[in-house]
Amino acid sequence: MGSRIGIGLLGLGTVGGGVASILFSPQERHPLVSDLEVARVAVRDLNRARTIDLPADRLTTDPHEVVRDPAVDVVVEVIGGIEPARTLILEAIAAGKSVVTANKAVIARHGQEIAEAAASAGVYVLIEAAVGGGIPIIEPLKQSLGGNRIDRVSGIINGTTNYILTRMADEGAAYDDVLAEAQKLGYAEADPAADVDGLDAADKIAILSTLAFGGAVERSDVPTQGISQLQGRDVDYARQLGYGVKLLAVAERMANEVQTSRSLPLSLRVQPTLVPTDHPLFGVNGVNNAILVEGEPIGRVMFYGPGAGAGPTASAVVADILNIAGIRQASDNPGRLDPLLAAGSWRSCSLVDPGEVRQRHYVRFNTTDTPGVIGSIGSCFGDRAVSIQSIVQFNATAAGAEIVVITHEVSQRQMDDALNAISNLAEVSGLTAHLGCL
Ligand SMILES: NC(=O)c1ccc[n+]([C@@H]2O[C@H](COP(=O)([O-])OP(=O)(O)OC[C@H]3O[C@@H](n4cnc5c(N)ncnc54)[C@H](OP(=O)(O)O)[C@@H]3O)[C@@H](O)[C@H]2O)c1
Repeated sequence: MGSRIGIGLLGLGTVGGGVASILFSPQERHPLVSDLEVARVAVRDLNRARTIDLPADRLTTDPHEVVRDPAVDVVVEVIGGIEPARTLILEAIAAGKSVVTANKAVIARHGQEIAEAAASAGVYVLIEAAVGGGIPIIEPLKQSLGGNRIDRVSGIINGTTNYILTRMADEGAAYDDVLAEAQKLGYAEADPAADVDGLDAADKIAILSTLAFGGAVERSDVPTQGISQLQGRDVDYARQLGYGVKLLAVAERMANEVQTSRSLPLSLRVQPTLVPTDHPLFGVNGVNNAILVEGEPIGRVMFYGPGAGAGPTASAVVADILNIAGIRQASDNPGRLDPLLAAGSWRSCSLVDPGEVRQRHYVRFNTTDTPGVIGSIGSCFGDRAVSIQSIVQFNATAAGAEIVVITHEVSQRQMDDALNAISNLAEVSGLTAHLGCL
């Protein structure tokens, strides 16, 4: 265990609550998590019922107190909105504290100001949760893909609109009806404008563009068209022509040659877009998000997963906190590596007996084409409690037949026992395929 790192949480709502529940249950996570201590938390309403039980003296309604608290080393801003979030982030930076934020609205509009303040104070501001919720995309763009020339970043980065579009396509439902139901289910806000007018997606693509291409663009210049004017008949016509309609956010370079001018020409846009069925973004449905990065030499790489929600977003916030904690522990302890970058094991692991592993199976047998063979095979499985999902005979000829079985989930030991019994049946000449099945 390394030195303790005090975390100041600004906000204990959906995301803040998710972060606190990770930090209060460090078991089975990277050991660095247990070095993180929730030192102070700011909320708006002290009387609100919380799922996280905190000692009263750690809670305050004054977020500035959290930023100033000497026990707080890293400030986590999950209040949302522009102010007071921007001021609190700048205050934390001025106090020499690194910041983690999930706030795309503030980063898309004031990211440059915040980055410059952080650079001159020598602290980090990390924003993994601001785009794509739980999907790691910010760190990959900054680090893992750093050797590439990025040509294009495009994606489905708003779960609410993707949920609405998926239901419109699947059920031929009208926009207004699906929106009303999404609001009832909590997938859309009472005021859905930021989502359905494409503003949230525009914030996020402005942030991704800055990281992909190395320079910021003016957020208010991003051409933005949402889905509120989209008609069900266009979704239907698109489907009949072999396309899905997705709210795509795109940032792409407009010149592939090496740039001699100081300013790289880019196109950014948010727009309902027809996506062909063989495109990787076509299958991204419901509240899921996906970001496709195209670059040289990597080609295409796609990041897919849950774009919002307490757990996924907290996963991204905690990843950022861990990055800061790792750097801090390495710099505080000369000769010690950053525990996240170092490839060391931190506990012992061992493989279980393969016979105990449970999964579904696909098997194919060659048999004689005799009456009752399916029944005999079925009994061998049934006697060993191997439950069958389907059993089908193919290619029956005088020479024989093929029987294909898909099982429900069973242990390898049960399966091996059943296959052993089947191989002793006179009418079975061989087990000709044995595959796993999800
Ligand atoms: N929700 C998601 O799935 C998601 C996904 C990605 C990014 N984000 C971003 O994460 C941020 C937080 O979102 P959220 O959904 O967690 O919001 P939320 O549920 O509304 O939580 C906001 C929290 O901030 C507290 N708060 C608000 N104003 C405050 C003030 N002036 N002083 C002290 N505390 C204050 C609230 O206190 P009370 O609890 O007392 O009201 C609440 O605990 C936003 O920037 C959002 O865009 C959210």
